[in-house]
Amino acid sequence: MGRISAVSGFCFAAAVLSQAIAAQSASTTQTFASTPIPVVGVQAGIDVKTGQRPARQNINNLYARGGPQWDLYILALSELQAVNETDALSYFAIAGIHGLPHSAWNGVEQVSGAPKNTGYCPHNELIFSTWHRAYVVLFEQTLVSHALRIASQYPSSSSPAYQAAAQTLRQPYWDWASQPRLPTAAMVANVTVNGPGGMVTLRNPLYSYRFQRQSAESGFGGPLAELQETVRCPETQGLGHNVTASDEQMDSVAEDLINDVYDVFTRTQTFEDMAFDRWQGSSFENPHNIVHNHAGCGGTIGNIDWSAFDPIFMLHHCNVDRLTAMWQAIHYKHPMFTTTGRSTGQYATPEGSLITADSPLKPFYGNNSRFHTSNTVSNIRELGYTYPEINDWSTTPEQLAIYIRAQVNMLYGSNSGMDSVASRSHHQGKNYRPATLSQPQSRYYTAEIQMNRSEIPLPSTINLVISGSIVGRMSMLSMPSNGLASVSLPLRDVIVGNQSLHNMDTVTAISFLQQKMTIDIRMNDGATVSVETTSSLQLEVQDMNYVAQLNNTGFPSFGNATRWPVRVQPSMRP
Ligand SMILES: *[C@@H]1O[C@H](CO)[C@@H](O)[C@H](O)[C@H]1NC(C)=O
Ligand SMILES: *[C@@H]1O[C@H](CO)[C@@H](O)[C@H](O)[C@H]1NC(C)=O
Ligand SMILES: *[C@@H]1O[C@H](CO)[C@@H](O)[C@H](O)[C@H]1NC(C)=O
Ligand SMILES: *[C@@H]1O[C@H](CO)[C@@H](O)[C@H](O)[C@H]1NC(C)=O
Ligand SMILES: *[C@@H]1O[C@H](CO)[C@@H](O)[C@H](O)[C@H]1NC(C)=O
Ligand SMILES: *[C@@H]1O[C@H](CO)[C@@H](O)[C@H](O)[C@H]1NC(C)=O
Ligand SMILES: *[C@@H]1O[C@H](CO)[C@@H](O)[C@H](O)[C@H]1NC(C)=O
Ligand SMILES: *[C@@H]1O[C@H](CO)[C@@H](O)[C@H](O)[C@H]1NC(C)=O
Repeated sequence: MGRISAVSGFCFAAAVLSQAIAAQSASTTQTFASTPIPVVGVQAGIDVKTGQRPARQNINNLYARGGPQWDLYILALSELQAVNETDALSYFAIAGIHGLPHSAWNGVEQVSGAPKNTGYCPHNELIFSTWHRAYVVLFEQTLVSHALRIASQYPSSSSPAYQAAAQTLRQPYWDWASQPRLPTAAMVANVTVNGPGGMVTLRNPLYSYRFQRQSAESGFGGPLAELQETVRCPETQGLGHNVTASDEQMDSVAEDLINDVYDVFTRTQTFEDMAFDRWQGSSFENPHNIVHNHAGCGGTIGNIDWSAFDPIFMLHHCNVDRLTAMWQAIHYKHPMFTTTGRSTGQYATPEGSLITADSPLKPFYGNNSRFHTSNTVSNIRELGYTYPEINDWSTTPEQLAIYIRAQVNMLYGSNSGMDSVASRSHHQGKNYRPATLSQPQSRYYTAEIQMNRSEIPLPSTINLVISGSIVGRMSMLSMPSNGLASVSLPLRDVIVGNQSLHNMDTVTAISFLQQKMTIDIRMNDGATVSVETTSSLQLEVQDMNYVAQLNNTGFPSFGNATRWPVRVQPSMRP
């Protein structure tokens, strides 16, 4: 097939969009006369009677299977990346909502009181996961609008199969907790797929996004501004692309990711705890940060201002959304936060704003010209997709919760066989067994870290080190640049003499941790940060009773925790 042309006129929002573009070029005012672009999810492929919806798929499965859905995913993403960057529904403009170029999208203007130099994305606060849910939905509905149009161009012999595949296509996810290696689909430079005109080899749109260099990019700054395309683990800042290094970095944090995810599923009881990393408790935001910092290691996805331009961003955030949706289905009686917090501010939210579950998720409108809120995106049923683990149309909420707990145990629990796809040779022969405990009764240890973000160069990762081995990690992204960051990290078991930490008596174990646990802080390029400069860094360990689950649908239970102070000592790690 020929070069894929810029989209127009197919998406349900396209009429609105072309009016908007016409209005923008006709006058210099930024005001939006017409209806804003709604974020409602893909409407195709849904059984409106039962509520059955197509599942977002694991990228490794989608890639391994190939066929019409894989073809359409790649062709649609490639076409989306080719849309003129001045278009509000271009890849560039959608990626630009998150951080740079810090400009208005869809007519949603900057507000006074907003912090300087930010995009719309909230991190380290209550609406972290709900905002990103709406964001992935916007990307998905745009992507699928391309796939539907491409599917209609196939010759009549294959058109029905491609149209059916397009209807049920959704944004795929990268389950980095069970499959930490960079997806193969994102590592190859070129891909060959079956297009409407036959087999065609394309630059792989998952490998990188190549900037078109339109005037819209003039607002860009910083060390990544000279890039021709997005990069992972550049050899020297801003140059080249080393996906092998990125893949190895991900492998090195494999245990943290699976342990942290299982810990969040089993130990957090409120949405507030589960979702974000400012308040104390373990949350999905920390493993999410670890992925940004390590898949990027100095490249695009490790920098909040640029991260959304890397095509693996949506695979990554789709997985954060999946973990959140699974957690919500387990905690179906209390699926949304009910407390309030203060925002550190974004492009369209003044610093210090009171945030509730009814606060607007700017710049995302629902279908009634009102902004989405955490409450309006709370239930994925309303947004046109589901996940393989979530079948909420033919079971009761309680049956679904039981089923999902079993899935969580299978994927992330102590008996999980990590990386079940095993489609790549380097997956074999490595035992990723997490440190969750197999003994029926034991002690469980966590590290509580708290840090004033303004006192540390960001992005960076705080490693907890015992005798040269990392036993837990806290990653922080570049924004917000101030406020508290907190995590509660499950500590990996370590062998002490002929015993394991989790089997020692508590007094001995705590005293061991207090003496031996050290801190190593790294920037994304591997440079060390002096522990002495971080006076606000607080470290404690907690111990609590642990009772293993009785069966594969139960979760372990945890007793009340006791906290112990730990003096912050620098690690001697090279
Ligand atoms: C769209 O509107 C309908 C009816 O007004 C409502 O039931 C549905 O939840 C809305 N969808 C979204 C995503 O806001
Ligand atoms: C993109 O759109 C802008 C503004 O309409 C136009 O000036 C530019 O030539 C277009 N670029 C391409 C590659 O079509
Ligand atoms: C990808 O395809 C382009 C031409 O389309 C070719 O120049 C390049 O060598 C290919 N790269 C790889 C890694 O095969
Ligand atoms: C890419 O990274 C790997 C692993 O760190 C390293 O061995 C290799 O030399 C790098 N490749 C290039 C071209 O620099
Ligand atoms: C963090 O440190 C900065 C600079 O020392 C200070 O202004 C700010 O109040 C501190 N923030 C918190 C939450 O302690
Ligand atoms: C472990 O060490 C203790 C004390 O050092 C010793 O009494 C015990 O026999 C050892 N156990 C094994 C299995 O070696
Ligand atoms: C499975 O174990 C959990 C606790 O781990 C328990 O609450 C639940 O009742 C058990 N279910 C069955 C069917 O035995
Ligand atoms: C844990 O703490 C709560 C509240 O302080 C208390 O009600 C409960 O009995 C404690 N549980 C155990 C096992 O000590």
